[in-house]
Amino acid sequence: MAVKKMWGGRFSEKNSDVTERLSMSVHYDSRLYRHDIRGSKAHAEMLCNMGILTQEELDAVLKGLSEIEIEIESGEFEFHSEYEDIHMNIEARLTEKIGDAGKKLHTARSRNDQIAVDTRLYIREEVGKVEGLLKQFIIRLTEHAEEQKDTVLAGYTHMQIAQPVRLSHHLLAHAWALVRDLNRFKTFRETHNLCPLGVGALAGVNYKNDRQFLAQKLGFAGITPNSMDTVADRDYIADVLYASSLLGVHLSRMCEELVLWSSYEFNYITLSDTVTTGSSIMPQKKNPDLAELIRGKSGRLTGNLVSLLTVMKGLPLTYNRDMQEDKEPLFDSMDTVHLSLEGMIAMFDEIVFNKERMSQTLGANFSTATDVADYLASRGVPFRTSHEIVGSLVGYCEKEKCNFYSLTLDELKKFSLVFEEDVLEYLNPAGSTERKLSEGSTSVEQVMKQISSIREIVE
Ligand code: ARG
Repeated sequence: MAVKKMWGGRFSEKNSDVTERLSMSVHYDSRLYRHDIRGSKAHAEMLCNMGILTQEELDAVLKGLSEIEIEIESGEFEFHSEYEDIHMNIEARLTEKIGDAGKKLHTARSRNDQIAVDTRLYIREEVGKVEGLLKQFIIRLTEHAEEQKDTVLAGYTHMQIAQPVRLSHHLLAHAWALVRDLNRFKTFRETHNLCPLGVGALAGVNYKNDRQFLAQKLGFAGITPNSMDTVADRDYIADVLYASSLLGVHLSRMCEELVLWSSYEFNYITLSDTVTTGSSIMPQKKNPDLAELIRGKSGRLTGNLVSLLTVMKGLPLTYNRDMQEDKEPLFDSMDTVHLSLEGMIAMFDEIVFNKERMSQTLGANFSTATDVADYLASRGVPFRTSHEIVGSLVGYCEKEKCNFYSLTLDELKKFSLVFEEDVLEYLNPAGSTERKLSEGSTSVEQVMKQISSIREIVE
């Protein structure tokens, strides 16, 4: 159906087909309908307070907008790409339903402040959901950490076995990164909770409007201070895209470990059937696809951030149509973050930690070499010398194809006379974690402390 453009007054020719196709955004920005309607309702109330809408007109606008919301939700609403975006689709339908009162709604308003308020309302809601999922996931990790407080495994640097750590400590290391993500989303909500509505196209409006009323109606903490900045600003989207990409990086690193740890070679964990998939050709396969997909999806989170920054970087003040390109990255990042967090929670709900295998790897290597060097150092051998001594001990074991366990005191004495009977327990990884005395270390006391501080922050 051919529809008349709302801005068509000065045009004598129709837009070309390609202009229509490039312009339209309603196929994706229609998901802002609830926020658009909410903003319009507040704006209409303000117009009534200003004497621009009569009470009857306001009632008609509010009723009309509520009905439109229902029409959209039930799938009855007919979207027209010729109306470009969600704002004009709703306004056109309102006018069709209630006549001239609908045409008054856009008094003292521009689509430039309208889209700014819609997206802020949308983000506020989405960020609320992200925070909820993040908290749920972090709490789940602390539960695992508590259950696994006696499980010890190898800690790695350079992907080589380094020192024994508690599994709890490892899980909490990831949890702390997520706590920072949580804070980042929270700060975002605090910094950007200002109402843009009422600034008009860029310069302000020729009416004594009441921006404080709009802010308060829409749950903002205040109003944006400069009308030009307000319509030119997309920092509030860039910030949320950055928070999302960094969260994506953290999830991706966790997923990388899930993939590695569920391999035959590691076999540190078993992922449940509900979160793994098979192969269409190799009957034996159980693939960690969920972890791989979340790891993969972090790519688009970073891509979306880069995409927005690139769109914005050369734009003169104030609004430019390029900025319409902010929405697809935003929606995609929010959807991706939700989906990824749900996936993480699902994997960690039924994950099984194969403790035996973890301790087997730990025992078969020289993860306690630093403990043995510290043993000598605490008995007066300068650390560099003890490092050297234990290094040759490892070399000896490698040549003899034995590990630390099988060394006798006599053999050890050949390397240093400082070794006494009690060194034997230093060779054993089991006690290593409890020798860690520094704050934030992997000892059970420090781990339990972390669990309670995380829970305090999150709950
Ligand atoms: N669909 C537009 C966007 O997303 C809304 C604002 C349009 N403003 C304008 N002057 N064309 O950015």
